[in-house]
Amino acid sequence: MLILGACRLEACEADITTLAVDAIVNAANTSLLGGGGVDGAIHRAAGHDLLRECETLGGCATGDAKLTRGYRLPAKYVVHAVGPIWRGGGHREAELLSSCYRRSLELAHEARCASVAFPAISCGIYRFPAEQAVRIAVDTIADTLPSLPGVTRIVFACFAEPMLRLYEAQFGRRQAPPSKPA
Ligand code: AR6
Repeated sequence: MLILGACRLEACEADITTLAVDAIVNAANTSLLGGGGVDGAIHRAAGHDLLRECETLGGCATGDAKLTRGYRLPAKYVVHAVGPIWRGGGHREAELLSSCYRRSLELAHEARCASVAFPAISCGIYRFPAEQAVRIAVDTIADTLPSLPGVTRIVFACFAEPMLRLYEAQFGRRQAPPSKPA
């Protein structure tokens, strides 16, 4: 866990579709019309009305995000973020991934969400190296939070334990070092 101002960041092993938060973030593609991985799981759990709303959105650029309702999910909203496909690191992948996290939080904040859960965007089918992606996720959220005071809880939902450890390592890195005894 990491406390940043008024916001608590936590990582847990969980299927993001089960989380009762104000918004969950989807790792979508530019069509916003569903796919595999977490995107498929979210569409299955939310039901067909989610796809119907997505069909009205006209897709989404890589690095950007769009908001829909959550339908049958416990979450009120879904923020559909489009992460970059990893192509070796020289194609603005880091910048685009960071932009996804910032835009997702901004949209959740506009919808008055206090709690937001993220999957590890781009770390599955899009093959972004997980350690670098997790660092970008935590740093971008930490940089964005001060301008979004209503967001008080961030959950990083991990599908497997090794991913959870990566978030915890990043939380540890950002923790102030203990002061030395005099
Ligand atoms: N809850 C939490 N995390 C999950 C879940 C879940 N239910 N399912 C998978 N993950 P991916 P991407 C983790 O592939 O790399 C889709 O087809 C997974 O272990 O879902 O951004 C889209 O339509 C991994 O750590 O997303 C796009 O075409 C992380 O979520 C493309 O995949 C992201 O893996 C996007 O690929």
